[in-house]
Amino acid sequence: MDILHTINEARRGVSWARSGGLTVGLVPTMGALHDGHMRLIQTAREQCGYVVVSIFVNPTQFGQGEDFTRYPRTLETDAAKCEAAGVNVIFAPSAAEMYPPGFDSWIEVDSITRLYEGAHRPGHFRGVTTVCAKLFNIVQPDRAYFGMKDYQQLQVIRKMVRDLNMPLEIVWVETVREPDGLAMSSRNAYLSEDERRGALVLSRALAEAKNAYDSGERCAASVQDVAKNIITLEQSAQIDYVAVADAETLEPLETIDRPAVLLLAVRFPSARLIDNIVLGY
Ligand code: PAJ
Repeated sequence: MDILHTINEARRGVSWARSGGLTVGLVPTMGALHDGHMRLIQTAREQCGYVVVSIFVNPTQFGQGEDFTRYPRTLETDAAKCEAAGVNVIFAPSAAEMYPPGFDSWIEVDSITRLYEGAHRPGHFRGVTTVCAKLFNIVQPDRAYFGMKDYQQLQVIRKMVRDLNMPLEIVWVETVREPDGLAMSSRNAYLSEDERRGALVLSRALAEAKNAYDSGERCAASVQDVAKNIITLEQSAQIDYVAVADAETLEPLETIDRPAVLLLAVRFPSARLIDNIVLGY
């Protein structure tokens, strides 16, 4: 496995693989790899002859006062995990390599980024779509792998690829959870012991709301209330949003009459967590 830091090296490595007829899979990450990331990597390994994992803590998707500087950076252990998983190349550029002086071009996806994470983290998706477009241009993968854990991000990326005719397939991978239900996330490491216990309200709220839906509840507000009532039981948890939305466009729904997703974001003193569950597939 190679660890490459420059765009030129990455292009050379991948074009060699492609000329050998291999299908190229890209797994974009910010590192601090956990079993959620590893599921994406395993899926890519099963479906592609050549797997590239990018590890880049992308400064442009973090807002003022967010956790960019304290975001965990663990390249050595990440590399060991990738090697064991059969990854061919890690692409780990510096910020200066990706955003040289004078960098001034951005990709923005419009309506689908206005609500939820987009509303609470202004500029976040602009950073995500721009860095993903750059990674797609550098690696030119046949497939790129994204987790349903970041459901809005996944739909934003699918929309960008469709709208801009990018020649690759986006593969969805299910959310990987801890045994007690908490969705795996690099940010779980910020939680205190008490917050970690309290964070279980997220997956409980989603499970109870899904039960209500499965029992026939089709009023979005009622399903949202089931989730909100569970989260508010936890005193250290502050709700940013709990919303039922169209599973693809993410438009808010009043009546759940089509495939939908329940999205939520909750703030604890040490970390902000997101999670979701699909309804009606
Ligand atoms: P990061 O948070 O490192 O996540 C990288 C990928 O792993 C994303 O597609 C995310 O949805 C997926 N992932 C994270 N936790 C998961 C879990 N518990 N189960 C399944 N998949 C999970 O998301 C980003 O980085 C960045 O925004 C990025 C796309 C790399 C652009 O900078």
